[in-house]
Amino acid sequence: MAVHQGTLIKQGAEARVYIAPFCGRKAIVKERFAKAYRHPALDKKLTSRRVTQEARCLNRCQKALIDTPTVYMVDVASSLIYMELIDGLSVREYMETDEGSTQAARTHIAEEIGRALGKMHNIDVVHGDLTTSNLLMRNNDSKSVVLIDFGLSYVSNLVEDKAVDLYVLERAFSSTHPNTEVMFEQILASYGTSCKASKQILKKLEEVRLRGRKRSMLG
Ligand SMILES: Nc1ncnc2c1ncn2[C@@H]1O[C@H](COP(=O)(O)OP(=O)(O)OP(=O)(O)O)[C@@H](O)[C@H]1O
Ligand SMILES: [Mg+2]
Repeated sequence: MAVHQGTLIKQGAEARVYIAPFCGRKAIVKERFAKAYRHPALDKKLTSRRVTQEARCLNRCQKALIDTPTVYMVDVASSLIYMELIDGLSVREYMETDEGSTQAARTHIAEEIGRALGKMHNIDVVHGDLTTSNLLMRNNDSKSVVLIDFGLSYVSNLVEDKAVDLYVLERAFSSTHPNTEVMFEQILASYGTSCKASKQILKKLEEVRLRGRKRSMLG
């Protein structure tokens, strides 16, 4: 049940995203809903945990001046997060435009993504669902990359968790955007200069890749 006058823009498996007014301006409202197959009490618990986790990781990023939507309000009882509406396309959409297909634009995006992820891992936030749909590009002159969708995020200082985070993005990249190996290398190069522990993390990434390959050979 909606407790706001929003316009639905995305219906996902676990969340609905609306554009709704908040204090006189347009905002994004993300609402998590119950899943019919789960026990109601357990479901309530899981849903509120996801809402709290998402809001907590967003706040942690904000405090570290990492570009993420500003959280306006969290309503745990109704499983709602009100946040800043980012004006811009997702990286996925942008890469499909003429402008976003040029070498210069792609180099810029890669640098931005690497820097954003490096800063995020520096404060021990692991995103958990890195795809080019969960990265938005601000429609301003600097075209900065904004990280969104922290529904699967958590705080961890483990090298392994951060390496898997990068691996998830690498897989998403190669399946969504063919022939972008060079661009992904640029992302990692930029990550390398922004993330303090990048040396160990990138080394671990090679291990994670090998494991992934073995697993896919086993079918
Ligand atoms: N702050 C925002 N500003 C602008 N657009 C947004 C914002 N947050 C979400 N969106 C849009 O809504 C879409 C879905 O949001 P989001 O990725 O957070 O949810 P989801 O993928 O359904 O969630 P989850 O994976 O946590 O179940 C995004 O891909 C983006 O297009
Ligand atoms: Mg998403």
